[in-house]
Parts: sequence; structure tokens; C-alpha cells
Amino acid sequence: MTARAIARVDLGAIQTNTARMRRELQRAEVCAVVKADGYGHGAVPAARAALAGGATWLAVAAAHEARQLRDAGIADVPVLVLGALTAAELDVALAARADVVAWREELVEAVAARGGGRVHVKLDTGMGRLGTRDPAQALRVAAAAAAAPGVDLVGAMTHFATADEPGDAFFGEQLARFTPWAADMRAAHPGIVVHAANSAATLRDRASHFDLVRVGVALYGLDPFGEDPRARDLRPALELSSWVAAVKPIAPGESAGYGRRFVAERPTHLATVPIGYGDGFRRAFTNNADVLVRGRRLPLVGTVSMDNITLDAGAEAAAAVGDRAVLIGEQDGERITAEELAHRLGTINYEITCELLPRVPRSHG
Ligand SMILES: Cc1ncc(COP(=O)(O)O)c(C=O)c1O
Repeated sequence: MTARAIARVDLGAIQTNTARMRRELQRAEVCAVVKADGYGHGAVPAARAALAGGATWLAVAAAHEARQLRDAGIADVPVLVLGALTAAELDVALAARADVVAWREELVEAVAARGGGRVHVKLDTGMGRLGTRDPAQALRVAAAAAAAPGVDLVGAMTHFATADEPGDAFFGEQLARFTPWAADMRAAHPGIVVHAANSAATLRDRASHFDLVRVGVALYGLDPFGEDPRARDLRPALELSSWVAAVKPIAPGESAGYGRRFVAERPTHLATVPIGYGDGFRRAFTNNADVLVRGRRLPLVGTVSMDNITLDAGAEAAAAVGDRAVLIGEQDGERITAEELAHRLGTINYEITCELLPRVPRSHG
């Protein structure tokens, strides 16, 4: 055992998933979204794997994330910072030769005042976060960018709120708001890169592809719709494992963990696995998860503590000290997906991998 708990990231899966998403596209290119440390998978190795799979752009949320990619030697690929930027962060983004997103003339002026840079204009077609709601204002910002010395107007964009909810009408409404504005932008600024789709939109509707799709979650083999990734031919890239550090028999009436939230009703064995919420394996999994040992699901029993969990290994002790314990991944044909864990917590797969904390080393292969 090399570490108490480890996240192994299969870079071949990220490369394959990128190529698989590319096959959805006719002429659009792939912008690999590697923000939040590549959704917990490691931003730099994830970016390299996605580029190997055919991505030609990268996107992050924060200026320092762009800096990290440049510092790692990713020099020639456009890196788009999706998020809002403070003045200090704008300095960092522009120094990293990153593209930034504008929806106010002030941002364009700030870019020009710093010697210039590459700008994408964002129309808020219904997400309600960043961007202007006013198409005319967005056109004015674009005109200001095109006219400002040193500023390159590179792109026109929006973001969907409900692409991952098949059948909902709002996605179509957003697309219907964006499409004519994008056409106006193209007419005024030929050569700009128009982009809107995230993973779900890319899979859902070709009309959302335009010139570039910003694909995140699917590259990691996580299903954008929260279903089994296999059904959409996506390969989960992350495996989370630990090991069985202790096995002990307990009698009826004996308990496990803080608050005695598991009390044995029959003779059984407890297997202790050294991973907990201090690693990002959430306390809400208390009495509410399975872990694979020897290819079998063992129920997590008792409270998830900061550093340990306990499993019910049964009367016959289906675990021994030193056994591998798989919390996310596959063992002998049995599988636990990030989607399964997300459903148990009432959250989304994105959060399951993003919230793995730095105490869990990532091993890339
Ligand atoms: C603006 C923007 N574009 C694209 C993405 C990628 O989305 P997904 O991971 O669902 O593909 C995100 C991620 O949340 C985003 O915020």
C-alpha cells in the first residue's frame, strides 16, 4: 500500500473521452474545461490528456489556474478564464496570456490599459450569473473591444442553465436568444469564435455546438446527466481507494464510531478503512455508502469520522488487513460510480470528485 488513500487518475480515459466527445462534432473544436484542479483530477495532467485526445482550447475559472497551466509549459494553447476577475486577477490572467470574458466596457478598458489581451463577450441568455442580459449592450462591448488598441475580440459566448435536464424547454429558449445575437456578432466581427455548449448541451443538441464546445465533466468520464457513464460510452477516469487497516469481531449490542450510530444486531466483523471527511469523503455517507473489498460491496456502518470509516464485513469476515478498499471504481466486475455516491448525497457527480481534498494524493497513469 503506497498511501492510506489514493486517487488514481487514468489519463488514457480522459484522452479517450475527449476523442469520444469530438465525435459528436461536425466542425466545432473542443475546449477542455480543467477548472477546480481538473474537477479534482489534476488540472495539468488532465489538460495534457485532453489535448492528446484532440482538444485545442483549455478553460479554467480563475486567473491563477491559467497561470498554473502556463507554468507547467502549456504554452501554445488558448486558455480561457471563464470567471469574473478582480483587478489583481486580471493582471495575473493577462500575464498568463489567457483569454478573459467581458460584458462591461470597463473590463475592455482595463485590458487595454494593461497593454491589451484577448477578450470574449458574454451574453447572459438565462443563466443569471455572468454576462449582460442586453444583446445591444453585448454588441457595444464587442465593438469597444474590437476598437481598443491591443485588444483582440476573440469570442462570443453564453452558458446554459438546464442543458442537463432533457426535455426542459428553457434550454431551447436560451439557444433561441443566443443564436441571432451570435449571428449579429459574426456579421460585425467575422472570424470570432462562437461558443455556448457544455458537456450536456454537446450531447443533447448539435445546434448548440457553433465553433467550440466547452466540455468539462464528460472528459473525466462523469455523466453530464447524472446517469451511468457507460450508457454514453464515457470512461470514468478517477478511482478512489484505500485499504483495510483493522478487522475485529463485534458482538450484538456493540457499536462503531462516534455517536454509536451503528449498533450490531448480530455477531459480525468491523473493517476499518483509513479515509474520512478530512480526505473529502463526506460525513453524510454515514450509514449510507458501500465500499468494495474483494470484489464485494461492504456497507459503510457508523459515522464517517475525519480519518476513518468502518465497514460491516459480516460474520465470516469478508475482509482482511491489507485488502484494497475501493470507494469509487471497479473491483472484480463490481462498480461504484461517482454518480452512485452523488445520488446517495442528493448532489451531483461533479461535487464528488471536486471535493476530494489535497490529503488524498493523485496518481496519474
Ligand atoms: C461557463 C462554463 N462553461 C463550460 C463549463 C463546463 O461544463 P460541464 O462540466 O458541464 O461540461 C462550465 C462548468 O461548469 C462553465 O462554468
